[in-house]
Amino acid sequence: MAESMMGLKRSHRCTELGKANVGERVTVMGWVQKSRNKGGIIFVDLRDRSGILQIIFEEGDCGEESFAKAEKLRSEFVIAVTGKVEARLGGVNENLATGAIEVRADSLRILSESETPPFPIEENSKTKEELRLKYRFLDLRRPDLQKSMMFRSSIAILTRKFLAEEGFLEIETPTLIKSTPEGARDYLVPSRVHPGAFYALPQSPQLFKQLLMCSGYDRYFQLARCYRDEDLRADRQPEFTQIDMELSFVDVDDVIDVNERLLHKLFKELLNVEIPMPIPRMTWQEAMDRFGSDKPDLRFGMELKDVSEIVKDCGFAVFKNALEQGGSVRGINAQGQGGMPRKKIDALVEFAKGFGAKGLAYLAVQEDGSYKSSFAKFMTDEQLRHLTEAMDGKAGDLLLFAADKNKIVWDVLGNLRLELARQQNLLKKDDFKFLWVTEFPLLEYSEEQGRYVAMHHPFTMPMEEDWPKIDKDPGAVRAKAYDIVLNGTELGGGSVRIHQAEIQAKMFEVLGFTAEKAQEQFGFLLEAFKFGVPPHAGLAYGMDRLAMLMVGADSIRDVIAFPKVKDASCLMTEAPAPVDGKQLEELGIEISDTQEQ
Ligand code: AMO
Ligand code: AMP
Repeated sequence: MAESMMGLKRSHRCTELGKANVGERVTVMGWVQKSRNKGGIIFVDLRDRSGILQIIFEEGDCGEESFAKAEKLRSEFVIAVTGKVEARLGGVNENLATGAIEVRADSLRILSESETPPFPIEENSKTKEELRLKYRFLDLRRPDLQKSMMFRSSIAILTRKFLAEEGFLEIETPTLIKSTPEGARDYLVPSRVHPGAFYALPQSPQLFKQLLMCSGYDRYFQLARCYRDEDLRADRQPEFTQIDMELSFVDVDDVIDVNERLLHKLFKELLNVEIPMPIPRMTWQEAMDRFGSDKPDLRFGMELKDVSEIVKDCGFAVFKNALEQGGSVRGINAQGQGGMPRKKIDALVEFAKGFGAKGLAYLAVQEDGSYKSSFAKFMTDEQLRHLTEAMDGKAGDLLLFAADKNKIVWDVLGNLRLELARQQNLLKKDDFKFLWVTEFPLLEYSEEQGRYVAMHHPFTMPMEEDWPKIDKDPGAVRAKAYDIVLNGTELGGGSVRIHQAEIQAKMFEVLGFTAEKAQEQFGFLLEAFKFGVPPHAGLAYGMDRLAMLMVGADSIRDVIAFPKVKDASCLMTEAPAPVDGKQLEELGIEISDTQEQ
């Protein structure tokens, strides 16, 4: 039978003990990592969230009853041990934090027994993630996940402390809100009291934090749960956490300043990494032109070059056609990759097609100055020489070109650049390269919806000097929006908000909202704006992404205690799940056959 605490108190966590404690009598509690019975003497590795400590049971020291219990110990039993700390006789174990000591037990309680776990509780598990997620409570015992969870906790605690010291107030905003479609699809919650009406779970606290500014709280933050029904990837979950903030009486530089200091502090205190200050800034246009991405990975070069001017009169129809249709021809130089076998180049072409390219033209510069190429035959020697020079091509380099609409060319080369860096192992996880991307376009044209949509959200302030273009050339208006990018991941984003009713009304008009529709969806915000609103701006980080990059994990699942998988289900609880007919009836909901697949 499992024993209970009955007045017993834990004196230390396993790795809180060291040489300084030799001679002390201590009580430790935790899980049996492993137990070895050498006849007359039993060695137990005891594990708690701090690490592992060796316990020795010897018949003479601990009495018959405790020794008999120790003989029964198996992995994952939960025990309490009291005994004396001793210097290790058998020499120091360098692999353990507590390798210089052990505890000689004089009494043992078995607090609970354990069945054999479905997989070993060990670091760097080889067990498939699906099985681990089904038994997430066991997976979470593994030291690497425990370290990540503890690290995440430190991020949260340090962030709170820093922001509090900077004069921010922590204020909670509701999670049952009105559906105000932003970027992604909402998760809806039916109302029992108002049949046929729904709450939405917030995609972010955006509107509430702006209202808090209207209410005069001037610096707000929250570690906010957000919900988005979108396709999942390694850095996306249907529910996730933002470090969300909003400030009054500020402009872009003020938001950037406080956030640079926050990031600097987090990296210095938690990783002992000194982020060079200030963090470089790049406009969205420059990021696209140089890296083909609005979240450039600056850990390596391989920048895009626009060669449209050089190839505009060449004989290669692919290039000429793209230019005639208003597109561009751009390339990247994969230095030293000129000897890449044809098969691998073909694989790159396929990769490019995955991003909408019609093809990928290549030019491998040979040692003797000649070329291996898919298009050299359409060009004169002089044109080839110009093109190679423009790309800084040297013997042994592989030049890759895409010709299409700008959007496709950027996407293709931006992703190709990352793929080549991955292949060449250029991406080091402990090399942290931060970047602010600024001056995003205010709007982007959605082919799907046949209208302009907000690139960030409809409350983002346009740049004053571009605002006059809003009617004639809406696509050319830039926004006071900024993203913080780390190693090619969008860590956070924000903007200065519109606080003038006329500009907000015009924005809604451009976005295709009628005045009635805007009133219906955002009436409360527009109403609030009638009663004195301070200029305000803010930003939100994906806290899961921040934790992922800081601990060097490959997926945000590794820094979330109970994550969901690709189809947004939880393998442990099996959510989402059908509900009782009675529950549905109360909500006035019927499931139609067509919904069942
Ligand atoms: P945005 O939509 O850019 O801005 O979100 C801010 C940050 O949240 C993180 N993030 C996610 N993390 C995990 N899973 C997801 N599905 C997911 N979606 C977003 C990203 C992103 O940079 N209200 C605005 C912020 C503002 O303007 O102040 C907002 O939500 O790291
Ligand atoms: P094709 O004329 O289609 O045989 O293409 C000749 C070469 O140009 C092949 O290497 C194609 O992969 C490449 N190519 C085709 N379309 C494009 C494009 N839009 N941009 C860059 N290269 C292309």
